Amino acid sequence: MLELEKISKIYKTGTFGGKKLLAVNNVSFDVKDGEVISLIGESGSGKSTIGKMILGLISISSGMIRLNGVDITTLKGCALKDYYRNVQGVFQDPFSSYNPIFKADRIFRIIREEFFPKINNREWDKKIDSSLRAVGLNPDEVLNKFPHQLSGGQLQRFLIARALLLDVQFLVADEIISMLDASTRIDVLNLLAELKSRGLSILFITHDLSLGYYISERAVILYRGCVVEMGATEQIYYHPLHPYTKMLMVSVPRLDRKWEEVEIKLKAKHLELPSGCVYYERCPFADKDKDCAKRPPLIEAESGHFVTCSHYMEVNERV
Ligand SMILES: Nc1ncnc2c1ncn2[C@@H]1O[C@H](COP(=O)(O)OP(=O)(O)OP(=O)(O)O)[C@@H](O)[C@H]1O
Ligand SMILES: [Mg+2]
Repeated sequence: MLELEKISKIYKTGTFGGKKLLAVNNVSFDVKDGEVISLIGESGSGKSTIGKMILGLISISSGMIRLNGVDITTLKGCALKDYYRNVQGVFQDPFSSYNPIFKADRIFRIIREEFFPKINNREWDKKIDSSLRAVGLNPDEVLNKFPHQLSGGQLQRFLIARALLLDVQFLVADEIISMLDASTRIDVLNLLAELKSRGLSILFITHDLSLGYYISERAVILYRGCVVEMGATEQIYYHPLHPYTKMLMVSVPRLDRKWEEVEIKLKAKHLELPSGCVYYERCPFADKDKDCAKRPPLIEAESGHFVTCSHYMEVNERV
């Protein structure tokens, strides 16, 4: 199980790093073995920052991340290498993950040098063959090719195959479907579902609600670096409690309606409030004199369904 406990990330910005940006604010959730969790939020809400902290690519400003009870921020040397055997990431743009002047299989060679220095050629070839086949790639069709000779879907599968070489238990999948065409999307989603059925845990980062619904048991909704709602996917999609989640659900385009017919009933008041609820400025329920001026805590509104809103009971009444 991977646990995030009150993690925050402050980036230093500005010319001399004099400004600070709180990109992730006190986020806690866990991902159980074999579970897929969708991390959903608009651009800039801090999704990739959370993924990068899990992958150890950037430091954590405060809080703790644990894999099977072990704090990952203290790992060094062999223990850190072991962590990377178990936890790997695949990112949005498959092309940027490859150097265009090297053949795509070079990324396998790097893994071999780093993690399997003693393996013989025959065993290694067998390992590559089985991990490529596990992601539906024919080794003869993809090995020895330059990245531009492969499709985006093939490259994305290639990266997942690379993660599988390491007996990975936990995959951070950061917008890995966004750049693929519709039919390849479904292929890669089905591949993730199959890996999940074999026990892999996945943090599925997306801003696309329909993808989140397709793949995950639970969803975490992020707004300005804060968790505003989380729970079982059905609860979040069919019974959202936070005004932001509700707005997201109402705004999803439906194929059976033209956009002029869609009346988005939740209109923001655009009031200014520097502290307090993170959604205050856009929230139709925001009330300066009431609880919204304070930061609402994450409360369990129904079993396993958490929300940070003092007005969550009114949200479904009003729409
Ligand atoms: N290295 C960095 N230095 C400074 N600020 C950063 C850095 N990386 C990200 N940020 C800022 O942190 C915030 C969160 O960024 P992040 O990339 O985590 O968002 P995201 O939810 O993944 O967005 P997107 O959907 O566009 O990928 C943004 O305001 C972003 O500009
Ligand atoms: Mg991102």
